[in-house]
This record gives sequence, structure tokens and C-alpha cells, in this order.
Amino acid sequence: MRFILGVTATLVVLAVGGFIVVFTGAFDVAATTPHWPPTISVLDAAMRRSVQRQAQAVVPAGALTEEQARRGYRHYSEACVYCHGAPGRDPADWSGGLYPEPPYMPDVPKLWSDAQIFWIVRHGIKMSAMPAFGAHLSDAEIWDIVALVRRMGDMTPEAYAAYGNPPAGAPAPR
Ligand code: HEC
Repeated sequence: MRFILGVTATLVVLAVGGFIVVFTGAFDVAATTPHWPPTISVLDAAMRRSVQRQAQAVVPAGALTEEQARRGYRHYSEACVYCHGAPGRDPADWSGGLYPEPPYMPDVPKLWSDAQIFWIVRHGIKMSAMPAFGAHLSDAEIWDIVALVRRMGDMTPEAYAAYGNPPAGAPAPR
């Protein structure tokens, strides 16, 4: 009985404490104030495990061809490069003000399978600047982007530049 009372009292204190922190505005939402390191670890693990689990439902598209990568380059130039950079291309300066900061894309292919990258681009990531592109790009177009991202791990700046000039309207090369 005393144990149950103790547990209940602890839960009530935690709930009231959480309520006070939220409603007094004591929680700092500024992107310039980093999370507490254990919070980063938990959020990062939750993101990775969630993507790994949900991407199991993605039907793999098979081998991704160079022709697809060439088409993906167009979308990548319009929709991704200013946040994520590319071989020989820095992201836009302001992307360093996002929290979490978008990872540099050539570092990404070794972390995720094709299906996982497809899932992330289609669905986006909650509470981050990573948009869901599923409403604007077809599945085929997203696979084209995955084909390009998959090749970025060991792509030289010259090989990236050889994909051509960015299409009109895309951010200029830096
Ligand atoms: C406005 C900025 C922004 C744009 C535009 C954007 N992303 Fe992201 N992206 C992010 C951020 C921020 C993260 C990190 C999310 C996190 O860690 O929770 C991310 C994460 C990712 C990841 C997971 C990488 C990792 O290991 O965390 C992939 C893959 C990705 N983006 C691909 C793309 C592609 C492909 C495009 C274009 C179709 C794109 N992103 C456009 C901001 C952006």
C-alpha cells in the first residue's frame, strides 16, 4: 500500500512538474540552444529505429541505374542541395542554422539502405526540417533521387559537376 502511494505521489509530482515547465514557457525552443546530450541520443535512436522499421514495407525497386541518377540530379538540384550539399558543393549558409543540422549528403549513403532513403524522402522526419516529398514527387521520381544519393558516397566533385548545369530556378553553384 505504501509502495503504491509512493509511486502515485512520484507520478503526480512529475506530471505537475512537466505541466509547470511547459506552461510557464521554461522549455527553451530556440534552435540555437542544443538539446541535453541524453535527449539527442534518445531522439536519434528513435528516428533511426523508426525508419528501419517503417522502411521494411517499401518494395525495393531493384538495381538503380545511371540513367535514373541523371534524372534524379534535376530534382536533387531543385529540392535538396541547398540543405544537404553534394560532392564539391557546400549547402547554403543558412542551413547551418537548422536544428538538427542537415547531414552532408555524401556521408549519408553508408548509413541507410536504398529503401530507407526512399522512405525518408517520401515521408520526411517529424520535428526536423526534413520535408516529406511524397505529395510532390512520384515514387519513380523519388527512386531517381535515391539512385543519385546512392552514388554520392564515393563521387568526386568533378563527377558531380559532370551531371550538368543545375536546371533554371535551382540555387546557383557555389
Ligand atoms: C530544408 C532543409 C532540407 C531539405 C530541403 C531536404 N532535407 Fe533532408 N534532412 C534535413 C534535415 C534537417 C535532416 C536531419 C533530420 C534528423 O536528423 O532528424 C535531413 C535528413 C535527411 C536524410 C537522413 C540522413 C540522416 O542520416 O539523418 C536523408 C536521406 C535526406 N534528408 C534526404 C533528402 C533529400 C533526397 C532531399 C531532397 C529531395 C532532402 N533531404 C531535402 C533537411 C532537409
